[in-house]
Amino acid sequence: MNQGWIPLVDDLLEYLQEIGFEELYLPQGTSLAGASRPQEQASLEVHSENAEDRKSRLAELARESQTCSLCNLSQRRQKVVFGSGDPDADLMFIGEGPGAEEDRQGLPFVGRAGELLTKIIQAIGFERETVYIANIVKCRPPGNRDPQPEEVASCRRYLEQQIDLIEPKVIVLLGRVAAQTLLGNDLTLGRMRGEWYRVRGVETRVTYHPAALLRNASLKRPTWEDMQVVRDRLAEVTGG
Ligand code: URA
Ligand code: URA
Repeated sequence: MNQGWIPLVDDLLEYLQEIGFEELYLPQGTSLAGASRPQEQASLEVHSENAEDRKSRLAELARESQTCSLCNLSQRRQKVVFGSGDPDADLMFIGEGPGAEEDRQGLPFVGRAGELLTKIIQAIGFERETVYIANIVKCRPPGNRDPQPEEVASCRRYLEQQIDLIEPKVIVLLGRVAAQTLLGNDLTLGRMRGEWYRVRGVETRVTYHPAALLRNASLKRPTWEDMQVVRDRLAEVTGG
């Protein structure tokens, strides 16, 4: 660390402690190794966020979510569907919310739409286990209705932390609800496709929900086009 920064860093740590921070997580690849006092500031725990830390924080968040009662969806769920896949994934898919089968198993996209999503993932050369799959809401909306704004709002913290901990290179938003929620608009899916967005700093693309493809086969072709764009961008940013 540049010596000139050390007093500033020490001041910052002291300030954070004063305003009540107990833990500080540093982004990947940074450290406070050169600061003069972080070790002495016993009540401010400084963590450098390596892959193992992020993995265990994700597991901790998953545990926490299992007993969540922030919204009414918690009352009728069988299982919380936190998300599944590789915590180090380059590619993350975000759907809307668990259906009946997901609610039974506690896993995302394991019903008919999930089988199709698995095939879509394989079609661009990935295995399902190497990506990460999550939803806007973690508990099943009764009768598969759209999640309500207050449900989306109370669940949002989980998804935001998932994105921040996984730090994927590309996010794919599946369907209108996921896209409107994370892009903060009320456009149709057709209007949102075909562009790059940023969600929590991550390059993001929108495509049709696999359940929509099951109802309307003519959406398969545009979905395939979207996925090719995603595959090509991932190859560029990962050098793959
Ligand atoms: N549809 C979704 O949006 N998410 C799932 O997990 C399953 C179906
Ligand atoms: N409307 C949706 O909700 N999802 C789609 O994928 C297409 C239209």
